[in-house]
Amino acid sequence: MTTTLVDGIGLLYTGDPEREEIADAALVLADGLVAWAGPAAQAPDADARVDVRGRAVIPGFVDSHAHLIFAGDRTAEFQARMSGESYTGGGIRTTVAATRQAGDAELAARARALVNEMRAQGTTTVEIKSGYGLTVEDERRSLEIAAGLTGETTFLGAHVVPADMDADSYVRLVAGEMLEACAPYAKWVDVFCERGAFDGDQTREILSAGMKAGLGVRVHANQLGEGPGVRIACELGAASADHCTHLTAADVDALAASETVATLLPGAEFSTRSPYPDARRLIDAGVTVALATDCNPGSSYTSSMAFCVALAVREMRMTPLEAIRAATYGGARALRRTDVGWLRPGARANLVVLDAPSYVHLAYRPGVPLVHQVFQEGLLLEEDIQNPPSDVVL
Ligand code: NIG
Ligand code: FE
Repeated sequence: MTTTLVDGIGLLYTGDPEREEIADAALVLADGLVAWAGPAAQAPDADARVDVRGRAVIPGFVDSHAHLIFAGDRTAEFQARMSGESYTGGGIRTTVAATRQAGDAELAARARALVNEMRAQGTTTVEIKSGYGLTVEDERRSLEIAAGLTGETTFLGAHVVPADMDADSYVRLVAGEMLEACAPYAKWVDVFCERGAFDGDQTREILSAGMKAGLGVRVHANQLGEGPGVRIACELGAASADHCTHLTAADVDALAASETVATLLPGAEFSTRSPYPDARRLIDAGVTVALATDCNPGSSYTSSMAFCVALAVREMRMTPLEAIRAATYGGARALRRTDVGWLRPGARANLVVLDAPSYVHLAYRPGVPLVHQVFQEGLLLEEDIQNPPSDVVL
């Protein structure tokens, strides 16, 4: 077994609530895991040494909400929105039509390109949803492709009701034959619980069927208006309620009393020119908050967690510490993972070396490519950060 000492860390953000920040730090990596983390002066010997020369190190970002299996283009929709049209989610059907037309190889290549783009920006764990197929076979192949890229796959057949079906028959299909075809490739089930998509009863029916099939629950909840999504998520013990933009006091109380993480997706508010969720209200109530990109061609076509961190700080009044925590530890909680999102002994050696003295620069220097090196399970991917090897599963 070769051990590697990562030395010269100006500031280590560990993500470990017991010791979140360590100045003048070092890490020892062994067998793809963190073997030791602490002050450089106390570091044990190792076989190899990497000196990061005073740079900051953070855990790899955990992007717990992304829609990467799609084809087509919605530039015109974005342009229209920036000229004053509002976002309703109706454009999902445009992507569905293009996705159904595309071959498996095209869908896989596009998703792989997005995963590579993410990893070059410091994301080492990503969740990927289906939801642009909306037929049994198109959802199944979407999840099969997603499973080739990540272990965190989510069945989102209940994204919208396809144009050629009535809602009741579609809910029956999703909770029945479609779920059965998709479950072998999925870890999670998700529903877009929103006016214009699926109501409370439909959401419960689909999520309950998913749970019976052994899937964990996550919910697109309260994005465009108040509704039952967050309360259903908490009731069913969902790992995460995502968006949480329009919350009542009862929603906040339900989240605070549950193990359900509130995943905030400020890229969606940015790209739809909508009001941001009230992160302070959630944090002050004791809710665990995650940040994710929601990377999708309609409402948030960004793959950058650093951008979401900057938005969280500037637009949602999260402190830089709260934002980096939400983008690492919070994302891991939202996926119920304890092996990623922090750098402590036993965790995967997924880390990002920043060209900056502190993680605060992620918000302080928005839009600047600060990722210097990425280690995925102890392996340095820096040779050509924009073109990493194509066979890595996050
Ligand atoms: O998370 N809210 C529903 N789904 C995506 C949007 C998808 C789209 O517009 O294509 C979201 O924002
Ligand atoms: Fe989404």
